[in-house]
Amino acid sequence: MRRLVRSAQLIDQMIEERRNINMHVQVISSVNESCSAKFHHKTAIVIDVLRATSTIVTALSAGAKCVVPAETVMDARAMQLPGDVLGGERFCRKIAGFDLGNSPNEYTQQTVGGRKVILTTTNGTRGIHKSMRADHIIVASLLNADACARSALELRRDIVILCAGSHDDFAIEDGLCAGLILDCLKKQSGIPIDVDDFGHAMHSLYRDRSEIVFETLLNSQSGKRLQKIGSRGDIESCASINTLNLVPYLSGDQLIIRH
Ligand code: MLT
Repeated sequence: MRRLVRSAQLIDQMIEERRNINMHVQVISSVNESCSAKFHHKTAIVIDVLRATSTIVTALSAGAKCVVPAETVMDARAMQLPGDVLGGERFCRKIAGFDLGNSPNEYTQQTVGGRKVILTTTNGTRGIHKSMRADHIIVASLLNADACARSALELRRDIVILCAGSHDDFAIEDGLCAGLILDCLKKQSGIPIDVDDFGHAMHSLYRDRSEIVFETLLNSQSGKRLQKIGSRGDIESCASINTLNLVPYLSGDQLIIRH
């Protein structure tokens, strides 16, 4: 009996020690800067505000059964079974023969409710595939940043936030979202959080621009590209903060809602 009590005390002590260890958060500026070693034993949070991750969150919120991120157009086509929805873009435009493009506004109860969505995009779905070595992968946008921070804390691993970026470069809207997630993590966490230098910079960026998020998206390179093709409405849809309380979580090859 005494041994049992001692073991229980040791376990409590270990849990307490684990709680007091800093959680580390690293922010990666673009898919190009990521390599699989950075994800080992971590929770990866993948961000592509304009528009892939905003679209994934919106599709699940509209009742899609799951979203399968495909790396290439050919992979996406090969995966499609009758009833599945094929979505995605190349050069910001819908791919020939696909059901939907990459606008979150296309992913409604009517188009995706109860169905599997197979999605391929230039950077966002590539970012998810780059993170495959992580213990956990969750998908974040401005729409669900707070819920993602809560999930990442529950998963109790160090965190790597991958900003997908655009055209192989950093994209300010992804950095802004990383900063927002850091803000949420700091507010929600009971333990000290150790953030890398780029993360600190993104947190400052968010604090500077928290009142002008939509304007920042409009003036970003990705925002300008979307306006050129008449998709200003998508920027509006991607700019709302914490309006969706759900977290897409990669289970096997499918993103499903994490409960
Ligand atoms: C991407 O994955 O590169 C973007 O989502 C591009 C886009 O929004 O069209």
